[in-house]
Amino acid sequence: MISLDDFEKYARDNLPRSVFNHVSSGADDQQTLQDNRNAFKRLRIRPRVLRDVSKRDLSATILGQHVPFPIGICPSAIQKHNGSDGEMATAKAASSMESIMILSTYSSTSLEEVASAAPTGHLWFQLYVLKDREKTARLVCRAEKAGYKAIVFTADTPYAGRKLNDERSGGFKPTVRLFDTFTFRCPNVESSSGQSSYGSSEISPSVTWSYIRWIQSLSSLPVIIKGIMSGDSAREAVAAGVDGIMVSNHGGRQLDGVLASIDILPEVIAVTQGTNVEVYLDGGVRLGTDVLKALALGAKAVFIGRPVWWGLTYKGEEGVRQVLELLRDELSLAMALSGCASVNDLSPSMLIRGHPSNL
Ligand SMILES: Cc1cc2nc3c(=O)[nH]c(=O)nc-3n(C[C@H](O)[C@H](O)[C@H](O)COP(=O)(O)O)c2cc1C
Repeated sequence: MISLDDFEKYARDNLPRSVFNHVSSGADDQQTLQDNRNAFKRLRIRPRVLRDVSKRDLSATILGQHVPFPIGICPSAIQKHNGSDGEMATAKAASSMESIMILSTYSSTSLEEVASAAPTGHLWFQLYVLKDREKTARLVCRAEKAGYKAIVFTADTPYAGRKLNDERSGGFKPTVRLFDTFTFRCPNVESSSGQSSYGSSEISPSVTWSYIRWIQSLSSLPVIIKGIMSGDSAREAVAAGVDGIMVSNHGGRQLDGVLASIDILPEVIAVTQGTNVEVYLDGGVRLGTDVLKALALGAKAVFIGRPVWWGLTYKGEEGVRQVLELLRDELSLAMALSGCASVNDLSPSMLIRGHPSNL
């Protein structure tokens, strides 16, 4: 396992086909899914030389919290699907590396159990605003009580995007127990239906910007908006008073044809200049040089989605740790080879658009 590609191959060979397809798929024609990777490749690095890079400082401060390296784990639903301990294993791995983990609303384990598996972890809670506002409010209260440090409100999912692979195989049907995060007593309940029941039907499609204030009023936690893919939306997010913006196209799983996350990042950064709003990015981050490019363009941190599934499939908690270590070490080497001793040395001038190609 010397690259994230190796982990992906392992998952492809070992996960049930329907699960692997569900996780790896993008929406519709998968243009955005592919472009998330290609856009990183189009960006080339202009290295500096002869700087003392014998010690590198990868640490960052994210929402006031020190992290040893700025790579976190983004929310993905029902992680027990790969036969591992799912979110519990992910949380333990992230916690052991002092990395941030965002737990999905659609976790296969209760948010309280995940929190107690990683009592010192930097856990954030991802929120879908449900049609039932009271249930939504309860989730936020529980997350705060359990020690989560931020609410990540996903804004790009009024409805679930179409994944053709899922449809062709008759619809993705969770085969593990889907945790009923919506009740206080938290019984494990058998999910009676498939993806749509956890992916869309409960999520409110009528949410507007005014909900940000409402979400903020539910707890004292900072609120990050996830799914911003234009400067205009970033401007509205800043005006709405968010603490952070996650530039994300949901890993190409929602609207197909939107730009790659890394391509829209500069526009969002420009909007947030001079504010205290932190900007993060997810989507297609697979190499240390991808992380370097996102940080150079101004992201405070990057987050990974599918690679966590691959790590879980490979070796549960240990597999996720290896995925994080690999990316961290690749980032460290990429910084050294480009003449940067600290993440603060990274800047947009280090990047240039590569030669026109078919990417
Ligand atoms: C299987 C799967 C489930 C996901 N579930 C959620 C979710 O419950 N909530 C959410 O906000 N994003 C969800 N996402 C999107 C991720 O948070 C993230 O935006 C995306 O995976 C990042 O791209 P990457 O997989 O290329 O790293 C999911 C992604 C995948 C692959």
